[in-house]
Parts: sequence; structure tokens; C-alpha cells
Amino acid sequence: MALTPQWLDELRMRTTLSAVVGRSVRLTKAGREFKACCPFHQENTPSFYVNDEKGFYHCFGCEAHGDAIRWLTDQRGMPFMDAVKELAAEAGMEVPAPDPQAARRAEKRASLHDVTAAAQDWFMEKLRSRDGARAREYLAGRGFSDATMREFGFGYAPDSKQAMQRDLSRFDEAMLVESGMRIETDDGTHYDRFRDRLMLPIHDQRGRVIAFGGRILADRQGVAKYLNSPDTPLFDKGRTLYNLHRAAPAARAANRLIVVEGYMDAVALADAGIREVVAPLGTALTEAQIELLWRQVERPILCFDGDNAGQRAAMRAISRALPLLRPSHSLAIVRLPAGLDPDDLVKQKGVGALEALLEKPDSLLNALWTFEKNRAPLDSPEAKAGLKARLLEHIEAVQHPDIRSLYKRELLERFSSFAFPPRPPRDFSKPGKPPFGRFEAKSRSVDPRTRDRIKAAMAGGARDALLAGVIAGFLRFPEQIAAHESALSAFAARDPKAGPAIDSLLIAAETLDLQGHLPISPNEGLPALPETSFFAFLDEGTDPDEAREELAEAVSLLVERPALEAALAQATARFETDPEGAFAEQQRLLRKKLEFETRLGQMASRRAATKARQNSAAQGIGPADGMNMD
Ligand code: UTP
Ligand code: MN
Repeated sequence: MALTPQWLDELRMRTTLSAVVGRSVRLTKAGREFKACCPFHQENTPSFYVNDEKGFYHCFGCEAHGDAIRWLTDQRGMPFMDAVKELAAEAGMEVPAPDPQAARRAEKRASLHDVTAAAQDWFMEKLRSRDGARAREYLAGRGFSDATMREFGFGYAPDSKQAMQRDLSRFDEAMLVESGMRIETDDGTHYDRFRDRLMLPIHDQRGRVIAFGGRILADRQGVAKYLNSPDTPLFDKGRTLYNLHRAAPAARAANRLIVVEGYMDAVALADAGIREVVAPLGTALTEAQIELLWRQVERPILCFDGDNAGQRAAMRAISRALPLLRPSHSLAIVRLPAGLDPDDLVKQKGVGALEALLEKPDSLLNALWTFEKNRAPLDSPEAKAGLKARLLEHIEAVQHPDIRSLYKRELLERFSSFAFPPRPPRDFSKPGKPPFGRFEAKSRSVDPRTRDRIKAAMAGGARDALLAGVIAGFLRFPEQIAAHESALSAFAARDPKAGPAIDSLLIAAETLDLQGHLPISPNEGLPALPETSFFAFLDEGTDPDEAREELAEAVSLLVERPALEAALAQATARFETDPEGAFAEQQRLLRKKLEFETRLGQMASRRAATKARQNSAAQGIGPADGMNMD
């Protein structure tokens, strides 16, 4: 273990700074602080203050400033570790034994950074030199502004196998190899990795150069257009995003982060004024990169070429993201015109054309659906089953239970209406076909076990108005149960309170003959419908088609509710670690919850309107018509 910031904080907290300083300087109390003539410079009136609460001393005369450790190193001239040991002994703390390996690793990293930083300076110098003429010409052809070229640090690797080694001989060969700048062959000879290429530095999030990408100056068959540094102790391809150190602050300001496939695209967009852009490094997006993106914004936008290769790449990114999805974290997908990358698009059609696409990206779910639907014609039962199996496979990949069930409901609904388009509605105006779904006075016999299960369902839902309403709705329209079965069973499996009631309903549904579409009559000795329910679909007067739609809406509210509440609880829990992020998130979720409640409320007011219509219709008949009155 090494000295961690936490350990040092603890040490500072346990140390009374005025006691330490007071040993060599006479302090006098001044309010909540102490003051003295500054020990770091000559003065006659005190401008040196010690603040025990903050654990800092400060001189307003010479700006000397520090904590207890700093005091011992600067005023008493002690080495850092000795100062720490002395304070720790006084504070009764054990100094952790240094970790020699960690120290060596840190040292090595520091020196590899020196190599990459020196290499970057050298590449830039070469671009300006006589050797760089062709590279400068190539760059001019790409049409980037001078400011952009400077900002992105373009350089040139000369066409030589030993030039870098000659100029950077202050680093030994082993370091040049380990930093990825030189290649060691099997027979022990060495040569420069990047030769005759336009060079782009790759930075870590703190803005330090850790690797390079190099592009050939004239596209040639058989030569890789781009060459990247290999993975090194500084550079982990799968955990790095090109341009993140510039894009992160821009992304927070714009609340938008765009992911493009190539680093020249990132440069081109910055040149066009869109700075919140990153790119992976020649590979498909990794899990680590997706998590990195989510640390900046909740819904990064991925731009992919509209051609087949681009769409397959989009699907790869989607597949990587599915297991990682969590409340309010997703990806948005923009499909570019086939054959154009973002750089081409901006150059050919202007930045406005790209902005227009960025404004209405596809959702992850929609992109997934479109891709799978279009993969093959749906002209046989086997093809339909294949599509369904692929969708189910994607759904299974989602790890978050609420999101998985929402994906399942949505994708299977889309599948059903796409694979089995609805037939024209039946005409109920013909005599002999009574409109189904109404509470009919006519009783329907239900076997006693089924009736018990229905009773259990209604009793189980009684304390939750939404659940009770939904159950009662299905008892009115039992033929609707099948359509919602998968959403309901997934919901039941996750919600221990509602689960038993829903399960009872689903089991009861299995034993009911639903083919006849006959509603279950309330005259079956069942409990009365819950009074709190205000759903129009429970009203006899509501048009059956409208009622079924309303019921479907109520089901979707019911199954969405836990996800929303879980997300809200999560945002609240996050307050301690990330107050700002959590606050924004919580506000957003509260707005969603409000929307949710508004939707519930709208159901209620629709029902009130229906009731009012019915009442005035009833009054229209007139009190004289005694037949209808009791
Ligand atoms: P592209 O071939 O789409 O190049 O590669 P591009 O971004 O349009 O580049 P220009 O406009 O021709 O200069 C996209 C990304 O794939 C990786 C690089 O990271 C590149 O940015 N790549 C491509 C390689 O790593 N090696 C290659 O040979 C080609
Ligand atoms: Mn390009």
C-alpha cells in the first residue's frame, strides 16, 4: 500500500496545525484563527494566519501557504516522508508500508509519458521541416483550418527507419520500444514504427499524449491506411476514446456527445464547430468505452454509415450496449447517407445537414428493431419464427430486469403487429352479433376453482388502485389477457406485492374459455369492483374498442411504474456521491413521474367526461320516462 489521499486526509484531520506551528512561532489568537509575523519573510506587523478548521496556514504578505506536512518540509526543511512519519506518530497513525512495485510502475509510467511527449514534439517539428512538405500538402488538401491543425497537434513521421532513434537518443531503446515508438525484431534489431505517415497524437483524459495514429499520405492497395500505437502501459485501446479530453467539457456544455468511427471525422467535426465528438480507435466500441461515454452524457449519439457495413457496425455497438443498459442510460443512433462518413457529409452538404440528422436520432430499440426486421423477408412461418428468436435473444441480453421487460413488451408487440397484421374489424352492427366486452346481465358459469382464483386476484390488487383497475379490466375483457401475458408475467415475477394477484389472474385465464369473448359477469359471487378505480374501461358506457385501448395504457403504466420508481430511488441514493448529477437525474425522473401521473389523471378525466355524457343523455330521456329511473 502507498500513501493514499484518504490516508493523508485522515492525517491532516487528526493534526492540530496551530500546535505544530506554535512550536516554532509565537501565535496569538485572532478570532477563529491565529496570527503571527510571517516566518517566511521579514515583517513587523502580522500577516501570517493559521486556520485549524481548514488545516492551512496562509501569509497575505508573501503568499506562503500550506498544511502541516508542508510546514514541516518548507519551514523545518524535513524530507516529505520524515514529515509524514513525525505527524503520524503524534496522531497515533500507522504509516502504510510503501509498495515498491507500485512506485516503480508509477515511475515507469511517468517516464513513458516523457517519451510520448517528446515524440509528439518531434513529429510536429518534422511536419514543419523540409521532410514534411508532402504531409503539409496532404493536410492542406483535407481543408482543415490552421487553428484546427494546431489544436489537434498534427505531425509527420519521416520516411526513415532510424530517424527517431537518432533524434531521441536520450531515451534508451527499451523505453522507445515499450512506449510503442520503435519495433524490436526477433533478431534483436530495432526500427521506427511510424514511417512516412501523417501523425495524430492520442491523449488520455487528462490531456497527456499516450499514443499515436498515423495515416499514409496516398491511399495504396495492401498498405494499412491507418496505423495505431500498440497497447502499451500508457495506452489501452479498448479503454481510450480519441479526443475525449477536449470533447468531455464540450459535451457537458452541450449536453450531447457524438461518437464517430474515424479520428479524422472527429477532427473534421471540430473544424466545423462541433466539438463534442469522440472516436474509438479502429475497433468496435467496447464496454469500457460505453461506460466512459455514459460518464459524460446519458444518451451518446453514435453516427454510422448507412451502408451495410455501417449498419452491421451499429448492430455490434448495440449488442455490446444491451447488457449494460440501466435506467435512463442508452445510446442514440444516427444513420448517415450510404457511403458518406461525417467528414464527407459536412464537406459535401454542410454542417447543417449533419445537425439535422443529429436532431432526430433513432432510439436504440428502434434501430435494433429496424435492423432485425430488414435482415430477411418475412415470407414464411420459419422466417417469422427466426425474427422472433433473434428478438428474444437480444431481449435476454438485457440485464436490467425492468428494462428487459419493457424491451420485451415493445419488441414482441412490434413483432406481432408486423408478423400478423390486424384483420379488418368485425362489424358488430349486424344483428345476431352482440358487441362483446360489455357487462351483460347474462351470467356465465365459471368453475369454482377459477372463481376462487379471480377472487384472490381481486383481493390481492385491492390496495393498489392501478393494479385493482387493471385486474378488473381484464375480468371485463378476458380475451385481452393473452395479448399482455408476457408483460404481465414479467411484471409479476419482479413485483412481490402484485405478483400473486397477477399470477392468479393468469392461471384463471388459462381455464376460462376465452374464444367466446364473453365477459365474466359480476353476478358470479365476486367482490365488487374497487371504488377507487376511475378507469373508463370499467364503465359499461364506454365504447369497447376505446375501453380496450385504455386498458392497454393502464397495463403499460402498471409495468413501467417499478422501473420509474427504481430509477428515482437510485438517483436519490446517488446524492451522496454525485450531488449534481443526481439532482439533475432526479429532476428529470420527477418530471417523468409527473407525466406518468398526468396520464393516469387523464384516464380519470376521460372517465368523468364519459359519465357526464351519460348523465346528460339520461336526463335527455326525461324524468317522465319512469321505466329507466330505478
Ligand atoms: P476509415 O477507413 O473510415 O477512414 O477508418 P476515415 O476515418 O474515413 O479516414 P480518411 O478520411 O480516409 O482519412 C475509420 C477508422 O478505422 C481505423 C482508424 O481508427 C480510422 O480512424 N482504421 C482504418 C485503422 O485502424 N486502420 C486502417 O487501416 C483503416
Ligand atoms: Mn473519411
